[in-house]
Amino acid sequence: MKISLPQLFAVGLTLLTAGFTIPTIAQAPAPPQGANPTAQQPGGNPPPPPRSFPAPTNLKVLPKNLSGQQVHEIMDGWEAALGGKCSTCHTANPNDIAPNGRPRLDFADDKKPEKATARLMFGMVEDINKNYIGKIDNSGVPVTCGTCHRGHLDPGPFVAPPEGHDHDHPAAPPAAGEKPSLPR
Ligand code: HEC
Ligand code: HEC
Repeated sequence: MKISLPQLFAVGLTLLTAGFTIPTIAQAPAPPQGANPTAQQPGGNPPPPPRSFPAPTNLKVLPKNLSGQQVHEIMDGWEAALGGKCSTCHTANPNDIAPNGRPRLDFADDKKPEKATARLMFGMVEDINKNYIGKIDNSGVPVTCGTCHRGHLDPGPFVAPPEGHDHDHPAAPPAAGEKPSLPR
């Protein structure tokens, strides 16, 4: 998938946490900082330095030249927006046990349906920002995962506040036998 510069900015604005600078992502397609060209060769991996993340090998919707660090920052943002964990979308690998005795996650694996849904959602968010929000005279605030999810995996239905809060339609006194709406 080809991603234009404005879309890259949308990615930067929409998904990245503070500390991730848009100029870094705008430098694409220069090789991203920290990318390890040997990381994709089986058996040829040098041990990663502390606090570094291996370059991604299976990106289908994010720009393919993102570094491991950049992907990690986007993932932190998704995790927070959905109130989930990495394991919400990523499968545990029973053959890869960490020193704490728990299986490590196989981030490149595509088995979890939530991962496929997240890819679909990412495309939707890009479409909304590019083809809808970007076409109105607005404050420049893009739609993000958090716009709908608000820290929950399944955004619940919108429940309108009680009528008394709507200034155009002052609440009528409750009819006999009807409970008054509770204040919020
Ligand atoms: C809402 C679902 C979701 C959550 C939560 C999530 N991820 Fe992801 N992750 C994805 C998707 C989707 C991709 C693939 C993106 C693409 O295809 O461009 C991905 C890709 C990755 C990759 C790149 C794998 C590769 O080699 O291509 C890494 C690493 C990763 N995630 C780490 C994490 C970490 C760490 C967390 C927790 C902080 C996390 N993810 C939380 C959905 C999620
Ligand atoms: C326009 C509103 C909206 C936006 C923006 C949005 N989502 Fe969603 N998302 C939904 C709705 C609605 C559902 C379905 C919830 C349900 O099934 O109850 C959903 C479902 C999901 C699910 C599946 C949850 C499950 O229970 O399996 C994942 C994963 C997800 N979204 C990830 C994302 C990610 C990642 C982003 C940002 C890239 C995003 N969403 C942006 C509205 C949105």
